[in-house]
Amino acid sequence: MSQVDSTREHLIETYRKKAKHYDITSRLYPAPGYPQRAQRHLAAQALGLRAGDSVIDMACGTGLNFRLIEDVIGPDGRIVGVDLTDAMLARAQDRIKTNGWRNISLVQADAVNFEFPAEVDAILSTYALSQVPECAEVIAHGAAALSQGGRWVVLDLKVPGNTPGWLAQLGTATVRPFAAIDEWVMRRPWEAIRAAMKDELADVSWTELCFGTAFLAAGSGGPGPRSSA
Ligand SMILES: C[S@@+](CC[C@H](N)C(=O)[O-])C[C@H]1O[C@@H](n2cnc3c(N)ncnc32)[C@H](O)[C@@H]1O
Repeated sequence: MSQVDSTREHLIETYRKKAKHYDITSRLYPAPGYPQRAQRHLAAQALGLRAGDSVIDMACGTGLNFRLIEDVIGPDGRIVGVDLTDAMLARAQDRIKTNGWRNISLVQADAVNFEFPAEVDAILSTYALSQVPECAEVIAHGAAALSQGGRWVVLDLKVPGNTPGWLAQLGTATVRPFAAIDEWVMRRPWEAIRAAMKDELADVSWTELCFGTAFLAAGSGGPGPRSSA
């Protein structure tokens, strides 16, 4: 098994264990009192959605973003939720059934292998893309599928800019659900995400949240001036 495969296996096993209580425990993520809900609202707003839009929720987990999206796109819109972990998708399916949503479909896939449908209006990924080693590829694949003016929005955690390495490892060890903390800190995936968005999208914005412990990155599809963000 390659390194990537064993990392994926470990990640799936971790989220299988977390899935049942994820909606409760995620409220403590990455720490009790962390403004995760407020950050999700900011991310949903950054999508600039309209009624009838089609949206991909990449690494959707149990579907905690679905309500925020549904409230704007309405029954004529469409959501495709993509995730690697079957148990997380099973919880998402429960949420869809409970709410009677008929316009959401779920796909079990690795983000890097997912074939984005053409001309999608918006793509969202929250607290997930930095766990995907090929995050830059995922940004590029999504950008190629966006309609002109369609929006790609990423919300995720990061290590604040001037944090000493040992403190970053200590802090992230408490919040990351898998063993490869050192790898995550060293790899600095938020930088790859930012660079890929600048390369692939127009009008890119980059906002650090909560003392630099999270970021909201957004950009638009189609031709246009590349951003200096
Ligand atoms: C912390 S959860 C976030 C879930 C959801 N986006 C949210 O905001 O609650 C991370 C999710 O990313 C998924 N994931 C991790 N790596 C993935 C990959 N390579 N492809 C697709 N999903 C992935 C996991 O299965 C898990 O459901």
